[in-house]
Amino acid sequence: MLNRLVLRATLGVLLAFAMAPGQAADVAAGKTKAEVCIGCHGENGLSQIENIPSLAGQLDQFVQWQLVFFRAGARKNDQMQPIVEQLTNDDIRNLGAYFASLEPFKGGKDDNPELSEKGKQAAAGRRCASCHTDTYVGTKAVARIAGQREDYLVKALHDYKSGLRSGGAQAAMADVAYPLSDEEITALAHYLAHL
Ligand code: HEC
Ligand code: HEC
Repeated sequence: MLNRLVLRATLGVLLAFAMAPGQAADVAAGKTKAEVCIGCHGENGLSQIENIPSLAGQLDQFVQWQLVFFRAGARKNDQMQPIVEQLTNDDIRNLGAYFASLEPFKGGKDDNPELSEKGKQAAAGRRCASCHTDTYVGTKAVARIAGQREDYLVKALHDYKSGLRSGGAQAAMADVAYPLSDEEITALAHYLAHL
């Protein structure tokens, strides 16, 4: 518990530093830096690879936080680890601004409206919109989830549920995901991915 508090305090300082006012983010520099991201996260931030999230139009603050979490080891992923080790605070700020500037990812044609209806009901029952906003485009450090890859949404919800990923903001998602059944997760991911 104490470790967690210390970690959060440290992360807070890191992010405050990364987001220091007066130093405007440089979208062009972010775009250049993002060349190394394309191989996995796709051209223009639209991922074509299973279990890799799209970043196009993802929120600036959310992207910055996740990069800080990866760099601090609070969020673990073997593929992201060597990438974030190379990133400075300026890079993180510029990458956040760049991905936020892209045309956001959007869901494709819904091949299973019945499952989406179940997901919609689950989302209402679990009050997902109370944090992610009514259109699920997110706000600040609360991720944009509308139109995200379905496989990645399933993975993310399972990772929170199992405790593999704890996230920021008082571990909000760990508490939210813990009671979700596998059926709910499948339906929620399908619904959100097709918004
Ligand atoms: C070798 C593949 C690979 C490369 C290169 C890569 N990523 Fe990732 N990235 C991943 C994977 C896989 C995940 C999902 C991790 C998980 O499941 O928790 C991820 C997750 C993320 C996330 C979290 C997004 C979310 O919705 O939670 C961000 C932000 C991110 N990457 C940014 C970047 C940036 C910026 C770069 C380039 C500087 C980059 N990545 C390069 C594989 C990669
Ligand atoms: C109390 C506020 C809150 C509620 C309620 C909430 N979320 Fe979240 N959600 C967050 C925050 C904050 C994050 C970012 C956490 C992190 O840093 O990992 C997040 C992240 C996520 C992610 C990861 C996105 C990504 O790109 O990695 C998914 C998926 C998600 N939420 C789905 C849901 C679903 C589905 C529900 C309803 C069952 C829900 N959330 C309810 C606050 C909330």
